[in-house]
Amino acid sequence: MKLLEPGTEVDGFVVRECIHAGGMAHIYAVEYASRARDPGFPLAMKIPRMTAGDGAENIVSFEVELQILPALSGPHVPRFVAAGDLLHLPYIVMEYVHGQTLQHWLDLPERPDAARIAQLGAAMALAAHSLHQQNCCHLDLKPGNVLIKPDGGAVLLDFGLSCHAHYPDLLAEEMRKAVGSPAWIAPEQVVGVRGDLRSDIFAIGVMLYELATGELPFGAPTTQGGLRQRLWMTPPPPRAHRPDLPEWLQEIILRCLEAEAANRYPSAAHLAFDLANPGQVAITERGQRTQGPSLGKHLKRWVKAAGMHYQPSPLPKNQIEQAPIVMVAVPHEDVQDATLYSLREAVARSLGIRPGARLACVTVLSPSASSTSDSERSETTLHRMHLARLKQWAQPLPLAGHSVSYHVLEAGDVGQALVRYAEGNRVGLMILGAATHGLQLQRFIDTVPIRVARDAPCTVILVKQQLPFNQLQGHASGE
Ligand SMILES: Nc1ncnc2c1ncn2[C@@H]1O[C@H](COP(=O)(O)OP(=O)(O)OP(=O)(O)O)[C@@H](O)[C@H]1O
Ligand SMILES: [Mg+2]
Repeated sequence: MKLLEPGTEVDGFVVRECIHAGGMAHIYAVEYASRARDPGFPLAMKIPRMTAGDGAENIVSFEVELQILPALSGPHVPRFVAAGDLLHLPYIVMEYVHGQTLQHWLDLPERPDAARIAQLGAAMALAAHSLHQQNCCHLDLKPGNVLIKPDGGAVLLDFGLSCHAHYPDLLAEEMRKAVGSPAWIAPEQVVGVRGDLRSDIFAIGVMLYELATGELPFGAPTTQGGLRQRLWMTPPPPRAHRPDLPEWLQEIILRCLEAEAANRYPSAAHLAFDLANPGQVAITERGQRTQGPSLGKHLKRWVKAAGMHYQPSPLPKNQIEQAPIVMVAVPHEDVQDATLYSLREAVARSLGIRPGARLACVTVLSPSASSTSDSERSETTLHRMHLARLKQWAQPLPLAGHSVSYHVLEAGDVGQALVRYAEGNRVGLMILGAATHGLQLQRFIDTVPIRVARDAPCTVILVKQQLPFNQLQGHASGE
């Protein structure tokens, strides 16, 4: 397909330079011919290659992207602007996003350090999570389809192989074989299962592995047999390539790359959480190993994979709701045992009905509490003391099967700190005490629980002290 000359007019857009000329599409910078229509942000036009010799996949992918991109919103996708129809002049005009594709970091002469890898990974995971919350799975995440903006946030591109639960899956109907890019495609995609959000987590795992080691965990297979390898094969641990990598990073990467989706993170928010809190990653054998599994183990996995039936997974949004990040705000000042007890009961109940949920226990110290001493050393002592308190509080909780972490935040405005924490970590459920004392006052003043319930981006459970406990207290005091 010939490149369009700068200055060419297409359907009211003036074409500027070509940004990308690939096998599937050309991308141009464009502007509205009429200044009056300027949307206030730069534009890019994607024109699929559709001359004789280009595959039918190009046309189907174009249709898929045309269906899905306008349905998506938020800071992690380019804004859709206009489209030309398939028969006359197929094109999509969208927001041009300033940034570097992830390929840029892979092309650098030196591998990024663990902190940078975690930053890039968390940005990708949060972007994927935003897509999943909209019931869309990308299914073609790879370095060329991820843009990192100057502020560090990620924007996902290229929805030609994606699927969206609200629209018919044209690709599932058209092609019954694997659809995706061989190096990054998840095992379940290899056998034709589309729409599992954990497939995107696998692809992010492949990119993290590449960033960490410069190698592809499963190579770039060209045959069906080569592709199927990932159904049973465990890649060499990243630390075998690069011993200076921390165990927590290897633990995270190998969890993303688990052959069975159920053994990966249940949602991309969980992955982002671990990448943002490396100190609290529970390191298992996965993070410590220095070699891949033995031949015998691989043989067992191969046999298991051969007989495996892949279950259709729930809608992305439902899957996220089934395994939310649960946050509990544990007070430390002026707090009764009954409140702490009731809070713990509420957390136990919430976790009990959500097997994959992770728990973040949070305490906010206000500067008055932390400035009890001037020296920095005693501040860390105070921090440690509160961490220990949190752990002690959580100790009776039945936590088997749940990841748990403890966080001591410092902020003057407790309510705001809790809301920000919930936003930043994509918390699905927040539990906090209702502060039932002073109820009369709450009509007039915005107390912390009231403000949090109003402003938090998630479901909030306000826990009152439970009656049985009060009664017990009553008996004890002889009432
Ligand atoms: N909206 C955009 N803003 C900025 N850059 C973009 C945008 N869309 C695409 N690009 C650039 O163009 C490249 C290719 O875009 P895209 O992934 O959508 O096309 P493609 O179908 O993969 O093309 P091919 O397979 O032929 O490479 C991206 O890696 C990115 O560098
Ligand atoms: Mg692409």
